[in-house]
Amino acid sequence: MIKHRIVFAGCGGIAFRWLNHITKRDDCEILAIADKNLASAKEYCKKYDIKCNLYDNVKEAMEKENGNLLIDLTYVTAHCEIVTSALKAGYDVFGEKPMAVSVEQVNEMLKTVKETGKRYFVMQNRRSIDQVKKIKEVLRSGILGEPAYICGEIFVPADLNSIRNTFEYPQLQDNNIHSFDLARYLLDAKPLSVHYHSFRPKGSKYAGDSACDAVFEFDNDVTYSFRGYNGAEGCLTSWDNVWRIMCEKGSVTWDGEGDAVYEYSDKAGDIYNGIPYKRGIIKKPEVVRDQHDMALEDMFDALETGRTPSTDCTDNVYSIAMVLASVKSIKENRKVCIKVNENYPYLILE
Ligand SMILES: NC(=O)c1ccc[n+]([C@@H]2O[C@H](COP(=O)([O-])OP(=O)(O)OC[C@H]3O[C@@H](n4cnc5c(N)ncnc54)[C@H](O)[C@@H]3O)[C@@H](O)[C@H]2O)c1
Repeated sequence: MIKHRIVFAGCGGIAFRWLNHITKRDDCEILAIADKNLASAKEYCKKYDIKCNLYDNVKEAMEKENGNLLIDLTYVTAHCEIVTSALKAGYDVFGEKPMAVSVEQVNEMLKTVKETGKRYFVMQNRRSIDQVKKIKEVLRSGILGEPAYICGEIFVPADLNSIRNTFEYPQLQDNNIHSFDLARYLLDAKPLSVHYHSFRPKGSKYAGDSACDAVFEFDNDVTYSFRGYNGAEGCLTSWDNVWRIMCEKGSVTWDGEGDAVYEYSDKAGDIYNGIPYKRGIIKKPEVVRDQHDMALEDMFDALETGRTPSTDCTDNVYSIAMVLASVKSIKENRKVCIKVNENYPYLILE
């Protein structure tokens, strides 16, 4: 039975992952596809054999169609206007990361969610990775003691085509939110502050700064050290980052691709008494499912059951806060503090 009457906005590089999932569900109908570049909308319609109306304006599509769910895969610069219009028009929204480009936009979006009572979930597909869920379970089990220090790095040769290449901080303002969100998710932590050093390495193909060395502080007394470069050549890391999480009695390491390994002792310092660490391996599953597929399953289930998914905008505000606080830290060359309130203004950077 059709429950989700969809207006699908934005037919760029990521749309296929969403359409692969949605077109296989029997509870979804795509009423319309909207892209300011109509040719892209037509191309996807043809590829997926979708019979629906086409628009070059998302607002017009929402007004003319009797939809109840907007999928927003447009540019990050357009998310605020599209998402708030959709919520006001009675649509729930599933949208791509990052939520927005400014604190004002984030506050406007959260305010509109509250006023309309509609739902807004933000895609953070890395949370669906099997290895990530299992590492989180090990951390929660307590055998390693309390987490104290988490390090993540990403060195990839990205070509974030379209406007994403042209941002002042191409890595930070586009894909770093995946890393920040994952660090937070693994630790069940909220960010308190960041000191972010950004730079443009020699030979970079980006006009803006696309490399960084950054330090975040979390509310559970954990420091997060992050570094990366979107223009790396050779010796690349996984797009899912390389991780090391140090706890009071042990550590976990994961290369973002294969098995994860953890080692621990019942008593700190056992290694000096010749007692080897206990060791555990988190095996990579034989079949790795698509991250968007799993994340969308969770979003649809949350929408149908009314539960709050981990990708709800009221949680995602903490991840976008890490991005926006980083931008402020670069511009003001100082540590920036993050405050998230229950009511408007939801996000404050100091
Ligand atoms: N979760 C992930 O792993 C992942 C991966 C890639 C991209 N993304 C995110 O998805 C979003 C889209 O990325 P992409 O790579 O598909 O971008 P893209 O540039 O390839 O495509 C964006 C599409 O949106 C359309 N568009 C933009 N603004 C519009 C507007 N106001 N009205 C109508 N159409 C509009 C463009 O014409 C284009 O076809 C971004 O927010 C990006 O960060 C997420």
